[in-house]
Amino acid sequence: MDCQSPFDQLIDRRNSQSAKWDGAAEVFGQEDLLPMWVADMDFRPPEAAIRAITARATHGIYGYERKPESLSEAVIDWLKIRHDWVIDPIWLNHSPGVVSGLVSAILALTDPGDRIVIQPPVYPPFYSVVEQNGRVVVTNPLVEANGNYVMNIPELEEIFRSGVKLMVFCSPHNPVGRVWTKKELLALGELIVNYGVTVLSDEIWADLAFHSHQHTPLASLSPGIAERTITFMAPSKTFNLAGLYMSNVIIPNQELRDRFCAQVQRLAQGHLNVFGIVAAEAAYREGKEWLDHLITYLEGNLHYVQEELAKITPKITIVQPEGTYVLWMDCRNLGIPAEELNQFFVRKAGIAFNDGLMFGPMGAGFQRMNIGCPRSLLQEAIERMSKALADY
Ligand SMILES: Cc1ncc(COP(=O)(O)O)c(C=O)c1O
Repeated sequence: MDCQSPFDQLIDRRNSQSAKWDGAAEVFGQEDLLPMWVADMDFRPPEAAIRAITARATHGIYGYERKPESLSEAVIDWLKIRHDWVIDPIWLNHSPGVVSGLVSAILALTDPGDRIVIQPPVYPPFYSVVEQNGRVVVTNPLVEANGNYVMNIPELEEIFRSGVKLMVFCSPHNPVGRVWTKKELLALGELIVNYGVTVLSDEIWADLAFHSHQHTPLASLSPGIAERTITFMAPSKTFNLAGLYMSNVIIPNQELRDRFCAQVQRLAQGHLNVFGIVAAEAAYREGKEWLDHLITYLEGNLHYVQEELAKITPKITIVQPEGTYVLWMDCRNLGIPAEELNQFFVRKAGIAFNDGLMFGPMGAGFQRMNIGCPRSLLQEAIERMSKALADY
């Protein structure tokens, strides 16, 4: 395979405290797996981020941090340029991770026993942040349509009518890869305004819409929708900085903002990591071109997997994603029982995918494949899958 792109560079991540590479054997029960599970990428971030971290590291003193104005300015400019969303600086808050931010918001805005809506198949912590905090999950499953998924808006309205305070929304959607259209978002927005439901809009994948798709922040649609929305974004997926724990929480409504901030104080979660701060600012300021190239590379990875997989078997199809770097692989036609499917790929192919069942019962027969890696690793995965499927 020609080495034409910086993203083709293979970097050995073993023994680097990587959950994806160093944690796979323990989780899947086998050594030497090709890890295509945890959602981070095997790419270096923009050089500007590495330079900023290196400069901060060589300073040599890592005392308590103070969030600089320049970080807020970088985030605000990014939202304006990349998402056509102008925010007031006072709306912008931070949390270490998006998931820890979701927990703070849930604790701030609901009481034990309250019902919270999610839309499976969905990122597994959407279940756990609700359930582990004594709240109750109410599901509004997505509906399969034309090779992808849509929201079930009439059912959502029924649920809202029955009385819920909060919904956790995934936009773009992990794992199905939808980049919701303005029309779809407006339908959701109308409901949340009419029924007074607050939405925690997890937009961590916002920057990774493919070139032919445009992500729209839910809260950017109207002042009324903004008043009911808390938006979570981060440089973590965008620039592959997840281990630095620096996320953005955007809250236009003052009452919601005060409640969120008070909860963050109670949990003593208001601090950021000095490396996260400098890396985020540098990446937002100087990472645009890197990101455009990354998206092109990811689109190439998607086409590569689709084409090669089609040569091996018609029994596995990829739900056509519109963004993200995770593929929702439909393996239902393989005829392997859903409970055995993940271990089939582990044992026969030596590949660690995320089991579809983690994303809810609708994930039965699916696996999630991470394509945020050099293409040569995808080639290896395809060869391994080909052998496994020929044998079985
Ligand atoms: C939808 C979604 N939200 C949040 C996260 C993780 O966020 P963090 O690591 O900042 O808690 C992920 C990671 O895959 C994700 O897909």
